[in-house]
Amino acid sequence: MSYTQLMENSDLELKRKLESALLEERLIVLPTETVYGLAAPINSPKLVEKIFKLKERPLFDPLIVHVSSEAEAKKLVLGWPALAQKLAQSFWPGPLTIVLKRNPEVISDLITAGLDTVGIRAPSHPVARKILELVGVPLAAPSANKFTKTSPTSNEHVKKYFSDSDVLYIEGEESTVGLESTIVEVHQDEDSEFDLTILRRGLITSERLKQELGDELRIGFGKSAVEVAHEIKAPGMHYIHYRPDWPVIVCDRALEKLAPGELQDFTDEKFEVRSLGNDPMLAARNLYATLQKPLKEGASALIIDVQGLDFNDEINMALWDRLHKAASLFLIH
Ligand code: TXA
Ligand code: MG
Repeated sequence: MSYTQLMENSDLELKRKLESALLEERLIVLPTETVYGLAAPINSPKLVEKIFKLKERPLFDPLIVHVSSEAEAKKLVLGWPALAQKLAQSFWPGPLTIVLKRNPEVISDLITAGLDTVGIRAPSHPVARKILELVGVPLAAPSANKFTKTSPTSNEHVKKYFSDSDVLYIEGEESTVGLESTIVEVHQDEDSEFDLTILRRGLITSERLKQELGDELRIGFGKSAVEVAHEIKAPGMHYIHYRPDWPVIVCDRALEKLAPGELQDFTDEKFEVRSLGNDPMLAARNLYATLQKPLKEGASALIIDVQGLDFNDEINMALWDRLHKAASLFLIH
C-alpha cells in the first residue's frame, strides 16, 4: 500500500493489519516527523518487553509514550500543570516530549525504567497519527534502531535493523525534522529552581520555548535518563550513540581541500568526505541519512565536514550533541 493509498483508503484495512500484527506479537514501525519509532501498546507488557529485546536496549533506559491528543496524555499522569497545558497547546502535535509524574496504574515500571516520571509526545506525522487513532491505545516507542546505533528516518533505515517476522512496516514519508524530539521535564514542586529542564536538545530550542511561553520562563539544562544512568555505571567514559557501522571523524576544514564525495587517502586507508551544508534545518533533517549511507567502495571511514555550521546556534547545538556521541575523532580548529 503506497503512502497516498494509505491516507486515502479505508481505515479498516490498516486497522486489521495493525491488529493482526499485534496478535502475532510483532511490533509496529512508527513513522514520525522526528525519527522512526518501534512501537508497542502501553497495555501489553509482553510487547513492551519485546522492544527492549529487539533493540538490545538496557532496561534502565525508559521509553517515550506517544499519544494522539492532550486528553489522552492527561490520563497517563498524576497532574497536568498549567505549564504542561501551554506546552502541549503550543507544540503538539510536534517534536516535543513532556516529562511529568506518571500515573503508575497505566504506566508500568518497565516503560519508565522505574522512574516516577514519564515522557509523553503527540507526533505530527500523518501516518503516526493514523496508527495511534486506529490502535486506540498510547504507544510506547523508542527510536527504531539497535541500542547505540544511528536513528532511522525512513523504513529503509529501519529495515537494516529488524526483520518482517518481528515488526510491521507501514508506508510512510521520510522524517522531516530528522533529530529526535526535544525532551523537557516540567517541575511540579513549588520550590524548584526552574520551571522546566531541557533533558535532550532538539528542534524546539529554549528560544522557541520562551517565544511561546514568555521570557520569564526559567529554563535549566540537564541530561536524559540514559545519560544519567551511563554516568553512574561508567563514569568518565565517552557515551556512545548514533554510530553507523564505520568510524566517523568530525572535521571543520575538510572542504577546503576536498569536495563532498571525494576520498581522502590516509596511508593505506581511504576516507569519504560528506558535508552537512550550512542550513541547520536541512543539516538536522539529513544527519542520520548522511551517517548511514553506505560508504563508497574502498573507503573505510567517514569524514563529516561541519564547515559553515555555527555551533552557537541552538539547533546546531542539538546537531553537535548527536555528532559528539557518534564520532570517534574530532579535527576541529
Ligand atoms: O523523537 C523522539 O523522541 C523519538 C520518536 C520515535 O518519538 N523517540 C525517541 O525515543 O527518541 P528514544 O527512546 O530513542 O529516546 C528517548 C530518551 C531515552 O534515551 C531516555 O533516556 C529519555 O528519552 N527518557 C525517557 N523517559 C524519560 C524520563 N521519564 N526522564 C528522563 N529521560 C527520559
Ligand atoms: Mg533513540
